[in-house]
Amino acid sequence: MTGQAILGIETSCDETAAAVVVDGSRVASSVVSSQVDLHARFGGVVPEVASRAHVDLLNPVVAEALLESGYAGSEVAAVAATVGPGLVGALLVGVSAAKAFALAWGVPFVGVNHLEAHLYAAFLEEPDLSPPLVLLLVSGGHTLLVAMEDHLRYRLLGATIDDAAGEAFDKVARVLGLPYPGGPAIDRLALEGDRHAIAFPRAMRDEGYDFSFSGVKTSVLTYVRKHPDAPVADVAASFQEAVVDVLVTKARRAAREVGAQGLCLAGGVAANSALRERILDACIADGLRAFVPSRTMCTDNAAMVAATAWHRLRADGPTPMSVGAVPALRFPGT
Ligand code: KG4
Ligand code: ZN
Repeated sequence: MTGQAILGIETSCDETAAAVVVDGSRVASSVVSSQVDLHARFGGVVPEVASRAHVDLLNPVVAEALLESGYAGSEVAAVAATVGPGLVGALLVGVSAAKAFALAWGVPFVGVNHLEAHLYAAFLEEPDLSPPLVLLLVSGGHTLLVAMEDHLRYRLLGATIDDAAGEAFDKVARVLGLPYPGGPAIDRLALEGDRHAIAFPRAMRDEGYDFSFSGVKTSVLTYVRKHPDAPVADVAASFQEAVVDVLVTKARRAAREVGAQGLCLAGGVAANSALRERILDACIADGLRAFVPSRTMCTDNAAMVAATAWHRLRADGPTPMSVGAVPALRFPGT
């Protein structure tokens, strides 16, 4: 086998994932085992259930990723795992396993920042993606606008001051009686609704780069209580429209103000159909390059972890074994 193959492991939330990526760009295998069904009956991720499921699933998932890749464990050049941010018990499973594999095979361990990994998911699919860029990272736990000045060099422009975009999708879905995870359910239902039916608030849309999504969530709740017979599809479509409008307006302004050449979308909410469509339209209108990873690359996976590790290993060298899980890790350099 040629090239430097890195085994990546991802267990920060409710996906147990492993992947082998060669030279930071060729995905030799990517296995994702979702725990969605386990958590669905609780309406959200139960941390203790997630940790236990990671323990059960990790070894089979790693074995499958190696088998599919054609690399034996002893042939990988490094083993990487997400060290944060995420649920501490869940992170610990992946980090401990990655360290054990690295020690057993005598190769470096690389600790990866989950947020940076979401960005590198876009690089995996668009190898010619080049900074300066503005990154809009929207996931279940984070909503960030980041200026990427160069590889591994970032400046935080803004973040949410309350709920993350994905969290708002999940909470509103609950209010509407939709199944967990809420984002995909709202996305599907919104296709049948009128996005202009209800004018939900667009908090902080035209000021600064920070976000606030708790107001729109409360507005949906109040609206549904007052109008129990309102078509649910219209409420879903109008809520999604309000969130997408804020995200796209700010990302666009950021790209213009920092002189970026492109806009990159990342994180689970980047799988949202309306957001993808509107970012593409905005990029065409503004003469920007749009980098929108495929839906499977937007949600949690380990290929993005292995790809990030390849860049980090070259820049920073191996991660000391003393580095453990860091549940509240921030975007690098911000
Ligand atoms: O990045 P991710 O897989 O996990 C975290 O690191 O948080 O993001 C999960 C979030 C959840 O809130 C989920 O509801 C949301 O991404 N999501 C979506 C869609 N697919 C996933 N939100 C809106 N539309 C979607 N199609
Ligand atoms: Zn994620």
